[in-house]
Order: sequence, then C-alpha cells, then structure tokens
Amino acid sequence: MTTTITLVRGDITRQSADAIVNAANSSLLGGGGVDGAIHRRGGPAILEECRALRASRYGRGLPTGQAVATTAGELDARWVIHTVGPVYGVSGSDPSLLASCYTESLRVADELGARTVAFPAISAGAYGWPMDDAARVAVEAVREADTAVEEVRFVLFDAGAYEAFAAQVG
Ligand code: AR6
Repeated sequence: MTTTITLVRGDITRQSADAIVNAANSSLLGGGGVDGAIHRRGGPAILEECRALRASRYGRGLPTGQAVATTAGELDARWVIHTVGPVYGVSGSDPSLLASCYTESLRVADELGARTVAFPAISAGAYGWPMDDAARVAVEAVREADTAVEEVRFVLFDAGAYEAFAAQVG
C-alpha cells in the first residue's frame, strides 16, 4: 500500500484527520508551539490522559523518538499522537531519532487503525532543527515507513516551512 504525502499550509489544530501528531516534550504536560495550540484547542481531556500516562507507563516521561496516543478532545480528529523530537545541536541530536518520531507515530497510527495522519514539522521550532534538514528527514522517514496509513499530511505553519517540504516531496 502506498502512502500519499500531501502538504498544506496552516494551523494543525484546524485540520480534520484521523490522528493529529503533537510535537510534544517528554513531560507530556504541555508547552508552547504546536503542543500549546493542541492543548488549548483540544481542551482538558487531552491533558487528563497525558497525566494518566505519566502516572502509569511513562513515569520518567516519554523518551525522545517514541510516540503515544490519547484522545483528541475537541479537535476534529479521533486521536492525538504525542511524540518527542530531539533537540538540535546537543548530544543525542541524531537524525535517526527525528526519523523515529515519524515511524513510531505511524506505527501507533496503524495500531489505532488511523488512515489519515497530520504531522507538524517536528523539532523545527523550539527544538531548533534547521527546517531544510527537518523536512528531508521527515519525508524520507515517511517514504520508507511500512504503514497502512493512506495519507500523511504535513501541516506547515509558514511559507518557509512549506517550501522546504515541497522541495523534498518534489
Ligand atoms: N500548526 C502547525 N505548525 C505549527 C503550529 C501550529 N499550530 N505552531 C507552531 N508550528 P514546535 P518542536 C510549527 O516548537 O520544535 C513545545 O514547547 C513551528 O513554526 O511546536 O518539536 C513542546 O512542548 C515549527 O515549524 O515543536 C516542546 O517543549 C514546528 O511547528 C517543544 O516545543 C515545530 O515547532 C518542541 O519543539
């Protein structure tokens, strides 16, 4: 099964998809950027489930490169898949960890039965990853993923991000 990659410019919290991916941090308890927007628009149910995950499976937080799903609350999606990108330029800022955010999110999406998944440009904001390289790693990871997801939609906030992804998708 081939996965179709689509690009849109906009706010990921306004997307309608089976699953929306959150560029979270390992605390799972919220932050700025995409994370802040998802929790604001999605409402308290998401944070409640994140707290429960911290109290059970992820007492030490969600490790970088891994992914876990919660409800999407009031968003127009069934699930939010939270993943933690690597911080650029510090030890552990390995592109394979960034690629893992995409492949692990798609693995979780497959477990859920999600067919459409919206991703932001993980690590390319507060975590400092250069946009061109973040786009290269993201598109390669999705192309190489063995997944039943039918559509991966990259939702890019500004023109620069959109152009960086468009250059990779061709
Ligand atoms: N929709 C789509 N893209 C967005 C949105 C939005 N609503 N808001 C920002 N972006 P970031 P990271 C873009 O910082 O680099 C948080 O505090 C943004 O312009 O959200 O993985 C977390 O709690 C950039 O291109 O994620 C973590 O602590 C991209 O999304 C930390 O930031 C990613 O920016 C994670 O940093």
